[in-house]
Amino acid sequence: MRELCVEDCERCPELVDSRSRIVDGVGPPDADLLFVGEAPGENEDESGEPFVGRSGTVLDDALRDAGLDRSDVRITNCVRCRPPDNRDPTSEELANCRGYLETEIDRVDPDVIVTLGKVPSQHLLGRDVAVTSEAGDLSDVTIEGKPRRVLVSVHPAATLYDRSQRDTFEETIARAAGFLDDDGGQSRLGEF
Ligand code: URA
Repeated sequence: MRELCVEDCERCPELVDSRSRIVDGVGPPDADLLFVGEAPGENEDESGEPFVGRSGTVLDDALRDAGLDRSDVRITNCVRCRPPDNRDPTSEELANCRGYLETEIDRVDPDVIVTLGKVPSQHLLGRDVAVTSEAGDLSDVTIEGKPRRVLVSVHPAATLYDRSQRDTFEETIARAAGFLDDDGGQSRLGEF
């Protein structure tokens, strides 16, 4: 869907310099689950696809364990350009990119938005979030005038240096997959 792609954008001068390309979301334009990360890293900047590096492998594995394939879900980021030295996006950069994310949420109209890590969780819930203790919690929020359900998750990268976060992450992804069962959403691998 063309309207889910950002053709060109120069709102963040520092990111225009640090990016190789704009990294748009991937996955079905009508996915029931929308995963939202922070910003592209080096691998994503090179390939043009969100979550393809080590974090992406962790996400893919957890999705598979939950009976889902990466192609079943939509994956995007709060900010579509790689920040220099992989720093967190600034509040100005988040604000500059917010409209693109809101358009994506509006068009995809997912049943559940899964926020991967602190930055997207705080960005979409509009408050401080302690991701480790709130992981797996579902919140109701209004985004662009529409009610949305947001499921907080730790960032997959957190599981790489803290093994104890792996269970938390996998349980959250399994919970997300469970929402598809509840409402007869998309098919799950191996069941048909
Ligand atoms: N981390 C993110 O938050 N997003 C990506 O696309 C990759 C790593």
